[in-house]
Amino acid sequence: MSPELRPGVYSAQEIRKHSSPSDLWMTIHGKVYDVTAFAQEHPGGVEVLLDCGGVDATEAFDDVAHSDLAREMLEPYFVGFAESAQRENTKEVSDPEKAPETAAKCTKRNDKLRDFRRQKTCASVLAGVALSCVIVVMILQKIQWLSLIQR
Ligand code: HEM
Repeated sequence: MSPELRPGVYSAQEIRKHSSPSDLWMTIHGKVYDVTAFAQEHPGGVEVLLDCGGVDATEAFDDVAHSDLAREMLEPYFVGFAESAQRENTKEVSDPEKAPETAAKCTKRNDKLRDFRRQKTCASVLAGVALSCVIVVMILQKIQWLSLIQR
């Protein structure tokens, strides 16, 4: 069977061919996007998109909780539909050697990002607590100072 079944409907095999920085496709919610021109402008960095090149990036895309604007930004890059979104999602592909590895990389990157975000949140909370402590100490010192003056 021809990899390209009919115009705008692509098999997993066909999509997987487009996984290089100069030819970068990915599937998101059953739709295929050619994000070659967008990759360098991606606010989340080019690396995450390269990791998702040629595979189903639905999970990775949703995990980041992209804004509505990000979803709208996808539309100009739409090139067609994945032949079987179902098959893509379960990573059941005709080249089991390569594709699952690439797909795992796509979601693994998000795990790292999640850890990084968690660390960022912890650091912000700690900074907030430290700042509050400094403010409390300053207030206490001021009160002590005022009470000394009044004596
Ligand atoms: C190709 C389609 C994509 C588009 C159009 C897109 C667009 C955007 C936009 C506009 C932002 C800025 C924040 C927002 O408005 O949501 C963003 C941030 C981000 N994106 Fe994407 N994105 C795409 C795919 C992906 C994929 C597949 C991943 C993950 C593997 C990813 C990971 C991220 C990350 C980590 C950020 C930074 C979020 C943060 O700083 O909190 N993006 N993206």
